[in-house]
Amino acid sequence: MPALETKLLENAFYEFSKASDSIITHYSTLESQIRELKEELEEKNRALERASEYLYTILDSLPVGVVVVEEKTILFTNKQAEELLSEGIIGNLNDGNLKTGEVKNGNGHYRWKKEKLLNGFEGKEVIAIEDVTEAEKVKERNERDERLMAMGEMAARISHEIKNPLGSMELFLSMLISGKLRKQEKKYVDYILFGVKTIDRIINNILSYTRPRTLALKQEELFSVVKDTLDFMSVSISIREINVDFHATCKGCVSFDPDLMKLVVMNLISNAIDAVDKNGRIKVDIKENKRFAVLIISDSGVGMSEEIRKNIFNPFFSTKDKGVGLGLFIVYNIIKAHGGYIEVESAENSGSSFLIYLPKERLSVV
Ligand SMILES: Nc1ncnc2c1ncn2[C@@H]1O[C@H](COP(=O)(O)OP(=O)(O)OP(=O)(O)O)[C@@H](O)[C@H]1O
Ligand SMILES: [Mg+2]
Repeated sequence: MPALETKLLENAFYEFSKASDSIITHYSTLESQIRELKEELEEKNRALERASEYLYTILDSLPVGVVVVEEKTILFTNKQAEELLSEGIIGNLNDGNLKTGEVKNGNGHYRWKKEKLLNGFEGKEVIAIEDVTEAEKVKERNERDERLMAMGEMAARISHEIKNPLGSMELFLSMLISGKLRKQEKKYVDYILFGVKTIDRIINNILSYTRPRTLALKQEELFSVVKDTLDFMSVSISIREINVDFHATCKGCVSFDPDLMKLVVMNLISNAIDAVDKNGRIKVDIKENKRFAVLIISDSGVGMSEEIRKNIFNPFFSTKDKGVGLGLFIVYNIIKAHGGYIEVESAENSGSSFLIYLPKERLSVV
């Protein structure tokens, strides 16, 4: 091969090997850059995953239900909302153009608010649902306390004013009856005397339970009070062929006035008897939580409308032909005097439950 050609070939090889060295160097630089980028991407993905985990944990820990919807389709629900979904609440919220509202489901009470999503998520809406059942119960209890205290004071004042002239009437009627009267006249006076005594009994009830006498507190079992009262009422229960299921989850050992508590149980059971038909069911249970012993008296009876339920503790509120309407007023005052409270769950034709909460430790005398 001529020298010139050899030289050219050598040069070409030299250039080729230089170029391939440079390619190898660039390739390995590129490779390490890709590796770095991949690591960076993986790190970013992990951070993104952690961020979304963090977001979902926050959403699931919220004490409100969060739902994202598009038209009628549910796109996302947090844990709270999933529970509400299973209770059939959410279906009621996604209708119409309302932005806020309230839903009642059985004894649950929920408040919701709807907002449109922005920033590229247009068309989607977020609904926040808050369970306000407990807050509403406390609100209702406080309103009831205020109302009944005012009513109680008024009833006590009126009763006090009636009591004196009533006493004189009874005295004069007794004198009249012991004098010379014809048979028919004596019968009439007897009727009047009976009426006067009935009024006197009602007034005594109001006076002694609106401001109950000092409680004779004893540390006793609610179980024995319920058992004694049910035994005492067994005749009126069996005559109507009512089935009473007394199953005490615990004995309910708290401090209370046993005589007054018997009156409470008696009033609640006799209301339950009035509410159920023949072959009806009354269930009695005693439970407890951290702060309260809870006596629960449920019946399978007629139940109450919302309107009736709101008024049952008012003095002289009765839906019965021969009811005076003082039973639950007395119950309310006795439980209040014990530092406890009452909850009522009821729906028309679905029976009623009265829950009596008695504090395990009494902080103050009400
Ligand atoms: N278990 C129940 N089921 C359905 N309604 C009830 C029940 N308990 C109470 N009620 C309603 O509450 C009202 C008031 O009850 P409350 O015991 O105060 O008076 P009453 O039973 O009518 O008369 P009384 O003074 O003789 O007790 C009743 O008339 C009834 O409408
Ligand atoms: Mg009653």
